Amino acid sequence: MNDSMSNDEALEALAERMRTAASVAVITGAGISAESGVPTFRGDGGLWKNYRAEELATPGAFQRDPELVWSWYDWRRGICAKAEPNPAHLVTARLEDRYKDFLLITQNVDGLHGRAGSRRMAEIHGNIWRGRCTACGDVFDTPETPLPEIPVPCPSCGGRARPHIVWFGESYDSDLMEGVYRFLMNVEVLLVIGTSGMVSMPVVLADQARRAGAFVAEVNPNPSELSSLAHAVLRGKAGELLPELERRLGN
Ligand code: OAD
Repeated sequence: MNDSMSNDEALEALAERMRTAASVAVITGAGISAESGVPTFRGDGGLWKNYRAEELATPGAFQRDPELVWSWYDWRRGICAKAEPNPAHLVTARLEDRYKDFLLITQNVDGLHGRAGSRRMAEIHGNIWRGRCTACGDVFDTPETPLPEIPVPCPSCGGRARPHIVWFGESYDSDLMEGVYRFLMNVEVLLVIGTSGMVSMPVVLADQARRAGAFVAEVNPNPSELSSLAHAVLRGKAGELLPELERRLGN
C-alpha cells in the first residue's frame, strides 16, 4: 500500500483511474452496511463478539437445532428490514451505469445493494431473504419477517428448508465464482469497501485482480487484510467517501 498518500491524494488517484476505465469491479463487506445500522461481524459490537459462529452459521448447527438457527436469522432479518440503503449503496448502484463492464461482488446477505438498485451483482455468501430446500434444492424468496413458520418448510415439496447462506465449512457456488474470476482477469479498477478480509475471499480476489494488472483501492476506516494489497487506501466511512468519489468522477 502507498501509506504516504493522504486521503485526498488516494481519492484523486482512484478517481483518475475510474474516469478513463472501461471495466470496474467493486467488492463489499459488512462495513458498507454499518452506516445503515446493520451490525458487522468483527470489531466493536460485531456479531461474532456476541454469538458463536459454530453454534449458528454452520451445517452442524442447523442439523442440531434448526429452530435456533432460523430464529437467529429471523432476528437479523428484522434488523435488515428496518435498515435503509445508505449513500455508499446508492453510489455503488449508480456506478453500474457508468461502465459497459461492471460487477459488484458482495459478501453481504442483507439485500441492501439490491434495494439500492444494483443489478450486475454476485452475492457470493447468499441472501438472507431466501431459503433453500435441503430435500429438493429449490431456492425461494422468504419476504416475511417475523417468519410465519420456523423451521421454514419448502414451498415446493414441504421438505426442511435452510437459509440460503454460505456457512462456515461450506463451499462457494462454483458457477458464480467462475464468473467472478473471469471478470477480474480483465478488470481495470477494483474497489474494495468495508471488509476485514478475515474471511479471505476478498484478499484472494484482490490479489488475482492486482496480478492481472488492475488498480486496487480500499475504503475502510481501519487497516484490514486488504490494505497491503491496495494501490490507494481511503481511510474513512464508505457513506462519506463514496459520494465524494462520485463527485470527483463528474458527469
Ligand atoms: P467484518 O465484520 O469482518 O469487517 C467489517 C469491516 O468493515 C471492518 O474492516 C471495519 O473496519 C469496516 N467498517 C466498519 N464501518 C465501516 C464504514 N462505515 N465504512 C467502511 N468500512 C467500515 O465483515 P466482512 O469482512 O464482511 O459471512 O466479513 C466477511 C464474512 O464473515 C461475512 O460475510 C460473514 C462473516 O462470517 C457469513 O456469515 C457467511
